[in-house]
Amino acid sequence: MNRQYLLRRRPQGLVTRDDFEYREAPMPEPGPGEALVENLLLSFDPSQRIWISELPGYMPPVGLGEVMRSDGIGRVIASNDPKLPVGSLVQGLVGWQDYCVTKKGTPFGFFRMPDHLPFPPEVMLSALGMTGITAYFGMREIGAPKPGETVVVSAASGAVGSVAGQIAKIEGARVIGLAGSDDKCAWLTNELGFDVAINYRADDWKKQLRAACPKGIDVDFENAGGPIMHTVFSLLNLHARVALCGLISSYNSTGDRSGSMAELSAFIVKRIRLEGFLVLDYAKRFGEAAQQLGAWVAAGKLKHKETIVDGLEQAPDTLNRLFEGEKLGKLLLRVRS
Ligand SMILES: NC(=O)c1ccc[n+]([C@@H]2O[C@H](COP(=O)([O-])OP(=O)(O)OC[C@H]3O[C@@H](n4cnc5c(N)ncnc54)[C@H](OP(=O)(O)O)[C@@H]3O)[C@@H](O)[C@H]2O)c1
Repeated sequence: MNRQYLLRRRPQGLVTRDDFEYREAPMPEPGPGEALVENLLLSFDPSQRIWISELPGYMPPVGLGEVMRSDGIGRVIASNDPKLPVGSLVQGLVGWQDYCVTKKGTPFGFFRMPDHLPFPPEVMLSALGMTGITAYFGMREIGAPKPGETVVVSAASGAVGSVAGQIAKIEGARVIGLAGSDDKCAWLTNELGFDVAINYRADDWKKQLRAACPKGIDVDFENAGGPIMHTVFSLLNLHARVALCGLISSYNSTGDRSGSMAELSAFIVKRIRLEGFLVLDYAKRFGEAAQQLGAWVAAGKLKHKETIVDGLEQAPDTLNRLFEGEKLGKLLLRVRS
């Protein structure tokens, strides 16, 4: 039996269990050139909320009646593909289900992971996975902080933000993180070495941000959008850079997503560079990023944290933890050990 969660309807706001249909399907069989994979770990990413909406994205939306799309890691348990022998670990879009088949034409395909992983599988989906690599290229290639510059990271306690902020510290910048609770802020400053962390739910967070940036802001690593982005924009310096990574504050919104763009006039006057980017743009350089991130982790310069939820049946509720609720670092769900 293959437990699956299928998309039943497009959610309005935060997802509910009724947005998904639970199904117990027969165990799938691999066809010629395919392998059967038992899913081990599922990645939870804000882009999943985009995939189940009608917002434009870099992939088509998940269709109604389709298994919910999710990156993850699994183990091959039967194989007609000599490149994916039984016992090997694979990464790809495995979906919210117990088992998947490595069907040809699945976007991005399924990659065989090294037999002897340098770090546990969960790290390969966090600091050394797509989110760590997103932080690496966004911060180094677009933010490009110089020693002594001021960097602000929003959604800083999350998978991308926590790595992005640490990379800016490694580059010698002064780093301010924005996060949604005092505990998350304490983790950023006490464990990860951020210079300042501000709880954006505090009444005076804008005042705190201005006080934390007496020389203005040189780099905005933007994960949030909305009021956070607009406030950060108002503090940007001459020749500042904005690495526009995500706009999570709008992913659940059902109303008008347009906001005041009045701050953009300052982009002209201050010659600010704003660049939206997708980690996939750097696909040819993933190896370089993984090697550097791995070296920093091994040297203790880059810390990582995974919040792991147990049980496939938790999948629908887990998605909302990206938007509210407690979690630190990368959010994962363990289907089985
Ligand atoms: N461009 C790319 O290629 C790429 C790749 C991966 C991810 N991303 C983007 O990067 C951002 C972070 O993704 P992630 O994978 O690292 O997820 P994540 O940060 O692990 O989880 C989401 C985080 O966003 C914060 N958040 C939720 N609602 C918010 C709001 N309204 N305002 C401010 N913060 C809010 C949450 O914590 P608190 O609210 O409690 O602080 C949580 O830490 C997202 O915008 C995502 O779309 C972009």
